[in-house]
Amino acid sequence: IPLERFRNFCIVAHVDHGKSTLSDRLLELTGTIEKGNNKQILDKLDVERERGITVKAQTCTMLYKHKGQDYLFNLVDTPGHVDFRAEVMSSFRSSDSAILLVDASQGVQAQTVANFFLAFAQGLQLIPVLNKIDLPSSDPERALDQMKTHFEIDPESAVSVSAKTGHNVDCILPAVIEQTTPPTGSSEKPLKMLLVDSWYDTYKGVILLVRIFDGVLKPGDNIYSFGTKKKYQIQEVGIMYPLETSTRSLRAGQIGYCYPGMKNVSDAKIGDSFTTVGMEDEVEACEGFEEPKPMVFVGAYPADQGDFNRLDDSIRQLVTNDRSVTLEKESSQALGQGWRMGFLGTLHASVFQDRLRQEHGGALIITAPTVPYMLRYADGREVIISNPAEFPDGEGHHTARPDRLEPYVLATITLPEEYLGKVIELCESNRGVQEELTFWTSQQVILKYKLPLAQLVSDFFGKLKGISKGYASLDYEDAGYEKSDIVRLQLLVNKEPVDAICQVMHRSMTQYAGKQWVSKFKEFVQRELFEVVIQAAVGNKIVARETVKAVRKDVTAKLYGGDRTRRMKLLEKQKDGRKKLQSIGRVTIEQKSFQGFLSKT
Ligand code: GTP
Repeated sequence: IPLERFRNFCIVAHVDHGKSTLSDRLLELTGTIEKGNNKQILDKLDVERERGITVKAQTCTMLYKHKGQDYLFNLVDTPGHVDFRAEVMSSFRSSDSAILLVDASQGVQAQTVANFFLAFAQGLQLIPVLNKIDLPSSDPERALDQMKTHFEIDPESAVSVSAKTGHNVDCILPAVIEQTTPPTGSSEKPLKMLLVDSWYDTYKGVILLVRIFDGVLKPGDNIYSFGTKKKYQIQEVGIMYPLETSTRSLRAGQIGYCYPGMKNVSDAKIGDSFTTVGMEDEVEACEGFEEPKPMVFVGAYPADQGDFNRLDDSIRQLVTNDRSVTLEKESSQALGQGWRMGFLGTLHASVFQDRLRQEHGGALIITAPTVPYMLRYADGREVIISNPAEFPDGEGHHTARPDRLEPYVLATITLPEEYLGKVIELCESNRGVQEELTFWTSQQVILKYKLPLAQLVSDFFGKLKGISKGYASLDYEDAGYEKSDIVRLQLLVNKEPVDAICQVMHRSMTQYAGKQWVSKFKEFVQRELFEVVIQAAVGNKIVARETVKAVRKDVTAKLYGGDRTRRMKLLEKQKDGRKKLQSIGRVTIEQKSFQGFLSKT
């Protein structure tokens, strides 16, 4: 099939607008999967998933006959997940056009807006498709009107379908053929290819999904990565049809897979470019490659330190399959040895936490998510701090006190007008700054707020859904670091800092958080022969305080004293060196208490 009859496209849509259903219909229509009988393939995918392999079911090559001629389509999957910006961008870069899929009963939503502008900026040709027209509540006119007013999309070019019943789905591919142009590029030129996606196979190692812009890729070729400067020899190439199907070569304009004999998933950097070894000075890398940075951190500790090795293996396994998670060992005085994991964003972090809980349940203590902060020194040096323990405590004593900055995001929220007041209140109470307020239609509003990422991690999304009865939708993008009055809140017990309990936050939050900390921590402190003072402090300034009164002597002797020394002796006998009790300012606190405190705050 000549290049003129290639079309590379992706589907952009808000979550639940029907992307998966439509992809399945298109695969059936082109005979790539059997109609109503994709069970086989799905089963195979399930098995592979169980083996811990991420399979991108919806990146696929399709063959299609139109007006007597064969066409070759490549449908590239785009993650519906706002955190995976790098993946979204590289799937846009690998495509020449995009189907802008909108649920006709809901109209344009936050992710539709965000994706539209990203795709538009990328120069993609857009085909509007309205879905779910079988629903009585569907209002294609309104959705088309929104797209016309705000995206300047010609309603004439739109296709209205029901992905569920299949109605009119056969009009989509002809529309793609007629409304979009084929890829450009030349198989005669030196190789230039883009890494779109990757996954891991236990037997074959890392598999790359690539878009060939120029040149030809065949087994035996030696390739060079612009991102990592490493070299690989191609072992196999092929297309996703819908599973890996080997071919003799991949040429300009095509999207397919290859095995480069790569061992580490972390070497497969989404958005990276490759060429043939020796051509690195002739060929220019594709634009826009950015390495994603972890923006949300979560700590995890075994409930029982004896479990550390077992959990370490299994957490490593999980991380191997998700190249966007960073993992480091961490140890805390109160919780022992554990891990610190970095995620791309809040949704990414919560999905991964759910998986950890599912697999390990009570065996893991997972701490509240935190974001990285930045210190900027007078000489321009910038230091990112993701561990609160490393955040400087000094409150203005140093002449060279660095500026403190925190990460912000620009949130796009779409909502029905009746919830506007409440949503604005939510944003404002989360230190948001309004950037834009537009009425799409008389009932639909689009709001843009600059918000600190730290506010987003504390269930902002859940609250937004709650106050809007699920009607508001949210998307956000990175908006860089900004100066902010952030400080470290520290818990003290009888004036001694408790290492494990400190957190970096905005000064306006410290009073509230401090009160919560001390009253909650009080529950976990045993009464002693002396008074125990629990305080929350910012530097030298105490923001909250609770006191645990001393117990009378006779009671202690009977109930606590003996009991505790006996326990201490028993503990000493334990040869595995587990540390169960912590002494802070002569106060003894059980590790269980720390676990209870930290897993709930
Ligand atoms: P994510 O994978 O979560 O991003 O969602 P998606 O956009 O892929 O949507 P999906 O295809 O999973 O569809 C979401 C829901 O809408 C499912 O319950 C589908 O059955 C339903 N749905 C999809 N297309 C139609 C349609 O044309 N009509 C009706 N009535 N329902 C549809």
